[in-house]
Amino acid sequence: MTYDFRIQAADAATMYRDLASALEGLVAGERDAVANMANAAALIWETLPELNWAGFYRNVGGELVLGPFQGRPACIRIAFGEGVCGVAAETRQVQRVEDVHAFPGHIACDSASNSEIVVPIVRGGELIAVLDIDSPRKGRFTEEDEAGCTKLAEILAKAL
Ligand code: SME
Repeated sequence: MTYDFRIQAADAATMYRDLASALEGLVAGERDAVANMANAAALIWETLPELNWAGFYRNVGGELVLGPFQGRPACIRIAFGEGVCGVAAETRQVQRVEDVHAFPGHIACDSASNSEIVVPIVRGGELIAVLDIDSPRKGRFTEEDEAGCTKLAEILAKAL
């Protein structure tokens, strides 16, 4: 198997389609959640432009705990309902935030972050983790990013 998953696509839809199939290839046949989150974070980081953080918070007994990621060291524990990640975990709804500074309770781990998308990863009615992606550019994440990241979360739900 080759691990060369560099993706270059002309448009976002093609890029997310290629990203989803690369992720499916990376997690195929592997059940180790840490390995799969680590490779997913690296793949997203390498593929999506204009990011300053990409990674996971896991649901550990009803609290979010930092998982594999790329970017600067981040806060380790986040309560459900707190910040963008905590709201995504509590509501199980994607949080796509144009301007994190306008989001009540936003937790500023990296002052470079200006926009953020957090996607819950749910399997069998249980919240497993959230996928958190941050950008230095305000309004970086579009509806296409939301659709693409939701697809990635569906792939990961089966692999974590
Ligand atoms: N900004 C997030 C905290 C996590 S860091 O961005 C990695 C939040 O408010 O949930």
